[in-house]
Amino acid sequence: MINEKLEEAFNDQINKELYSEYLYYAMKVYFQELNLQGFVNWFDVQVQEERAHAVGMIDYLNSRGGKVDLRAIEKPVIEGKTPLEVFEHVLRHEEFVTLRINYVADVAEEVRDRAAINFLDWYIKEQVEEEANVGGVLATLRLIGEDKKALLMLDKDLAARTFTAPVIG
Ligand code: FEO
Repeated sequence: MINEKLEEAFNDQINKELYSEYLYYAMKVYFQELNLQGFVNWFDVQVQEERAHAVGMIDYLNSRGGKVDLRAIEKPVIEGKTPLEVFEHVLRHEEFVTLRINYVADVAEEVRDRAAINFLDWYIKEQVEEEANVGGVLATLRLIGEDKKALLMLDKDLAARTFTAPVIG
């Protein structure tokens, strides 16, 4: 069995991962409208990753005898009008997710659930990667500025990103 407070923290985080999937889907559509297919691909991978993060937690909570509570997913709102501003939003969002994962880990520590602490370690490492990955694209977008040719080159690079189903936990 899993502690009730930890179960609640997991359920809240599952909702946040699903919201992340939804938010990135909205961003994918934004780039579809701009016909920047490399960016579309980048967000498509992001969408799949967020789904995997949510499923990983759902399966884990289930395996621990916890009750999975799937809640309403908020309407995604993109902050920003340009690719640069959209990526600034992505970074802010990932930093927020990192804080929330840390909170779940804090609860796991508080209730002395060593198995959950161990499980959450994967997510903590994943957040470091997520922030670095987004930060990399953001840094390039800042360099690009108003240069449309350079933006198209970045778009080509982002088309190479592929999704590999993660082994969580
Ligand atoms: Fe599931 Fe991008 O954090």
